[in-house]
Amino acid sequence: MKKLHIVSNRLPYSVDFVDGSPLLTPSVGGLATGMNSVYKEYNGNWIGWPGVASDSQSPADLARIDALLEKEGCVSVHLSNHEVEEFYEGFCNNTIWPLFHYFAQYVDFHAEFWDAYVKVNQIFAHKTLEVIDDGDYVWVHDYQLMLVPEMIKSKKPNITIGYFLHIPFPSYEVFRILPWRDELLKGLLGADLIGFHTYDYERHFLSSVRRLFGYEITFNEIHIDDRIILADAFPMGIDYKKFEDAAIKINQTPLKERSEVHRELEKYFLMDPDRKLVLSIDRLDYSKGIPNRLRAFGRFLENHPEYRGKVTLILLSVPSRNNVIHYQRLRSEVEELVGSINGLYGNINYTPVWYFYRTMPFQNLVELYSMCDVALITPVRDGMNLVAKEYVASRINKTGVMVLSEMAGVVKEMGEAIIINPNDENQTEKAILQALEMPVDEQRKRLATMQERLKRYDVFKWAKEFVGSLQRVNKIQKDFL
Ligand code: G6P
Repeated sequence: MKKLHIVSNRLPYSVDFVDGSPLLTPSVGGLATGMNSVYKEYNGNWIGWPGVASDSQSPADLARIDALLEKEGCVSVHLSNHEVEEFYEGFCNNTIWPLFHYFAQYVDFHAEFWDAYVKVNQIFAHKTLEVIDDGDYVWVHDYQLMLVPEMIKSKKPNITIGYFLHIPFPSYEVFRILPWRDELLKGLLGADLIGFHTYDYERHFLSSVRRLFGYEITFNEIHIDDRIILADAFPMGIDYKKFEDAAIKINQTPLKERSEVHRELEKYFLMDPDRKLVLSIDRLDYSKGIPNRLRAFGRFLENHPEYRGKVTLILLSVPSRNNVIHYQRLRSEVEELVGSINGLYGNINYTPVWYFYRTMPFQNLVELYSMCDVALITPVRDGMNLVAKEYVASRINKTGVMVLSEMAGVVKEMGEAIIINPNDENQTEKAILQALEMPVDEQRKRLATMQERLKRYDVFKWAKEFVGSLQRVNKIQKDFL
């Protein structure tokens, strides 16, 4: 039977050490959830980096980590500290990430970073080639591994390869800035099916292929000699039921048995039932537009003194890529803004922004989603944004309003949100007011439509559709030959 293998930079487990022994914690991220349903069903492996540098571990610990992962069907790729620095922090997060999110001013064009990217992509490709058999399927994920499809295809042409980009593919005029643009595209074109979250990203990709290589493109098919490569849009979903069920369970739990977070939030409402909570959850990343959001919230409090003491913004910033300078600067900027808003509009009984710089367990996240009247999701660029979908899925009483940036891929599926341009702080401020004052009937109407849509196209459907297309493309190619 043909197997299907997954290749991604991170494995779906993180490694912790408890009493000196390595322990695996399953990741709850969207990709892990979606892929778990796929690679186990197709009996394949998951090839990836366990998230710890190999030279920070003793050989014995490394072997123990690998053995634990192997039991879960995972094959670990070892990266040294130096490789993590130049590949992960360097080319991935100082070059591709800012460029593809239209932060051209943050991009580093270092040849050493590029060399490390090629080398590490080769390591991933070799590891994959070791475990795959002729005729198998391989699904490669995201911007860290754009060269892997070609590296596998050139060694084993009879492997059917899918690739999915989880971040935006920028417009050609931005993509062309990169000195290694041809190499990246060639790497991707080793795949048989290339997936994006939205049709716009697909269009940008096809236009780059046409302009840089002049290949013949019919609709979404790229023709190169005797090969056909398909590009298509597959908007990634969430495990809708998991969020819905968790919210139902929380709702049924007696107050005194609920978590501390929940009880604290309840206290807030008990002080004044007219109080409102606005929620903001992201990795602390400059693409997420957190300073814009804070400034808009500050303006809102400035221009609407009647809401001071009545509305609190819960700002959960999940630590991310701490070694990259722009992330460090962003943290200072965000913390300064939080301090300034709390200093200006707060008092002994009122803190306008509750700021948390940490990760939160799944249960607490759902509690936050369930308790907050408004979700403020204002990225300046975002491939998709699954938080928006998680918020909608957790609103079991069908109230709640989302203020959503037009720059997030998810906006294509959420026309019922209040849509804003995140660079327009005036518009965002007005949207906050509109959200807080939206009649309940209207909230329900908008939310119900979004819920129906998201329920239908969940992460399992997403994965199934991608794999289905991969199987079809294999057939198209055979018929073509
Ligand atoms: C984005 C990327 C993922 C990445 C995640 C977390 O969602 O598309 O590939 O894994 O951010 O970032 P990190 O650098 O911690 O892997």
